[in-house]
Amino acid sequence: MQHVDRHKLQTSLPDRIAFAREFIGFSVEDGETLNAAASLVGPLVKGVVDGVYEHLFKFDYTKASFLPANSGFEGDRPKDLAGLTLDDPQIAFRKSFLTKWALKVFTADYNNPATWEYLDKVGLMHTGVAGFEHRKKKDPLVVDLLATSLLLGWVEDVLVATIVPLDEETLPAAMKLKVLRAINRILWIQQDLFQRHYIRSDEEMVAAAARINSGGESYPAPGAVVVSPGFALSQSTKVALESLLVVGAVFLVMKLR
Ligand code: HEM
Repeated sequence: MQHVDRHKLQTSLPDRIAFAREFIGFSVEDGETLNAAASLVGPLVKGVVDGVYEHLFKFDYTKASFLPANSGFEGDRPKDLAGLTLDDPQIAFRKSFLTKWALKVFTADYNNPATWEYLDKVGLMHTGVAGFEHRKKKDPLVVDLLATSLLLGWVEDVLVATIVPLDEETLPAAMKLKVLRAINRILWIQQDLFQRHYIRSDEEMVAAAARINSGGESYPAPGAVVVSPGFALSQSTKVALESLLVVGAVFLVMKLR
């Protein structure tokens, strides 16, 4: 059995990466597999990145992140979401960032700590903290973890759907399996490198759970009607209570007559 220092998982990137790699099984061979697949996947990256932006533009919730201009951009800007199109010059510029990330996933040296620092900063820079040196003068970017998680899942789905149909000559079955498993493992580690900057520590979760369990705090259940801070009723309970009140009022009126 291996010992894992729980505190270091929260405070040290190398320790977190070492554990994540060990746990999910991202081996040196996985890194080499991704590198070997780079020449095959590289030409597909443009299509994947275009697909990502088309997908993000389908929802105002995700499209809204792209309306603000890059700091320092002085050209004409669309005023609202309807006016923002995929051929906007700012979008081409932003696509280049995502292209760099996607190519990095397949070409990176996973024995080099700088690779993990880059992937970690990609997570951090979506939380409102600059992360990268070149972003320090830019306006903070805040994207919900919900959106980044789902996009990672969506990207994996597209890669699976693109790679699985490749014929035996292009990618032999044994190698195909290795590539898909390596992609799955690295994207889950990237997911953790987003998550660790949003969920600050498991201790905070435990403390929040204790507050909820002691009745001091509550999260509304889906569809719940919040009647006062820290006290939530489900819709059916609210309807039942309202009916009781009406019956009580009618009873009182009849009694008073
Ligand atoms: C798969 C998950 C994601 C990855 C891997 C990713 C990756 C990146 C990278 C590498 C950059 C540029 C970093 C740099 O400045 O060097 C970036 C910037 C950005 N991302 Fe993400 N991102 C993801 C999800 C999202 C989502 C879901 C949104 C919005 C809904 C979003 C919005 C943005 C915006 C607005 C920028 C700023 C571009 C700029 O500075 O002009 N990202 N992202």
